[in-house]
Amino acid sequence: MKIPSSSHIHMLSYLVVLLLLPLISFSADPDSLQDFCVADQSASSISVNGFPCKPASEVTSDDFFFDGLSKVGDTSNIFGSNVTGGNVLTFPALNTLGISMNRVDFAPGGVNPPHSHPRATESGVVIEGKLLVGFVTTGNMFVIPRGLVHSQKNVGVGKALVIAAFNSQLPGAVVLPFTLFASTPSIPDDVLTRAFQVEEKVVKSIKSKFSS
Ligand code: GLV
Ligand code: MN
Repeated sequence: MKIPSSSHIHMLSYLVVLLLLPLISFSADPDSLQDFCVADQSASSISVNGFPCKPASEVTSDDFFFDGLSKVGDTSNIFGSNVTGGNVLTFPALNTLGISMNRVDFAPGGVNPPHSHPRATESGVVIEGKLLVGFVTTGNMFVIPRGLVHSQKNVGVGKALVIAAFNSQLPGAVVLPFTLFASTPSIPDDVLTRAFQVEEKVVKSIKSKFSS
């Protein structure tokens, strides 16, 4: 039998990576294999990619409605904003359907802090007010490609409201202030001082603002 040389093996692995690239870069949540699969969040002992389905005999039409996004979020917090998630955790019928929506309320001057969604591209529409979203937008749509860091700030005089849509049932959110300065175990101060080129007292001061 002819043993492949190491350059052949390299070429082969290169080819495999190239063939897989389109799959990796275009994938969102996988396609559903049935019409619906309302999440049974009580089946905690079963671990799958998503949630197991509630038995079809127990599914009712109410499962397919969610009124959480009609309620104004409470913006009285340090950021002056509030994200209400309409994802599989709050709206179990989204399980396996590959979509979700958020409602984001902003007090005047309020900020939705820099964050990214590891599993989804986000598109949003400004329903009320004036926002800084990388650009200033009123009543317009914006899009944030999957994984990219973004934030919003209310730069108008009144309240602002965004409705955001995602191509995942659970987009995830890596909120940078918490991830960098309030993780457990915490990121060592010397890593953060070097990364941000500031003195240790600055890092300690930021950490103290996010410690619970
Ligand atoms: C806004 O960016 C959101 O993630 O809801
Ligand atoms: Mn977002």
